Amino acid sequence: MTRAATTDTTETWPETGARLRFLRTDAPEPGEALSPAETLRLSAFRLDKRRREWLGGRLAAKALLSEAAGGAAPALFEIGMDHYGRPACRGTLLSISHSGGWALAALKPESDFLGADLEKIEERHPAWYADYFHSSELPVPEPSAATRLWAIKEAVMKALGLGLMAHPLDIKEGEKGIELKGKARDRWLAMGSPAFSVETRPFPEGFWTAVAAGK
Ligand SMILES: CC(C)(COP(=O)(O)OP(=O)(O)OC[C@H]1O[C@@H](n2cnc3c(N)ncnc32)[C@H](O)[C@@H]1OP(=O)(O)O)[C@@H](O)C(=O)NCCC(=O)NCCS
Repeated sequence: MTRAATTDTTETWPETGARLRFLRTDAPEPGEALSPAETLRLSAFRLDKRRREWLGGRLAAKALLSEAAGGAAPALFEIGMDHYGRPACRGTLLSISHSGGWALAALKPESDFLGADLEKIEERHPAWYADYFHSSELPVPEPSAATRLWAIKEAVMKALGLGLMAHPLDIKEGEKGIELKGKARDRWLAMGSPAFSVETRPFPEGFWTAVAAGK
């Protein structure tokens, strides 16, 4: 069942154990949440949409880090990147996504494999369905099913630190779970073949969210 959500939401997903924060990006305000370096970065954005998305992702991530640390000031948690380019703070991995007026951050402190993706469900060009999905995982080009699969692929690619440097066809939802090949499999092997699970929900309304997290 799809739950309506119009306001910021924080929840733990039971299968992956990841903590997720969904935040509206209509008019996020930094308040006192940013470090001096982050405040400088924020002032450098020229496109308002990108500024709001970046800020929304940071505020969501900092809220999770602050909560996990018993309410410490968000400005203490400066978010950088790990050596794969994944968002991280002092060795703790995070994942960030934004789409259609929402930002999402995910945290699972004990996991070094974590990726999350939020995607608005919308009709796409026929080539999108043809180029990025195996016919076995998407027999019919239907927007909601395809958006769910796309969110899974991006979540796994983010957990692998590859982003779209891997091809979406390298990640396939099969009968026994997620199957990897090509660059995605090479990176997973290089990471020590971590066991992981993937969880998806049609949340917020009109979107799919996917999380990939180490077990
Ligand atoms: C990661 C990627 C798939 C995100 O795609 P998207 O559809 O724009 O995005 P989302 O909103 O869901 O996610 C964006 C977030 O992914 C995160 N991200 C970026 N690179 C990442 C990586 N290598 N691994 C994991 N997460 C990454 C960032 O936190 C980013 O948000 P921020 O810039 O506001 O901090 C895409 O940016 C990508 O492929 N990046 C890696 C390749 C790359 O950097 N290419 C540069 C080409 S010039």
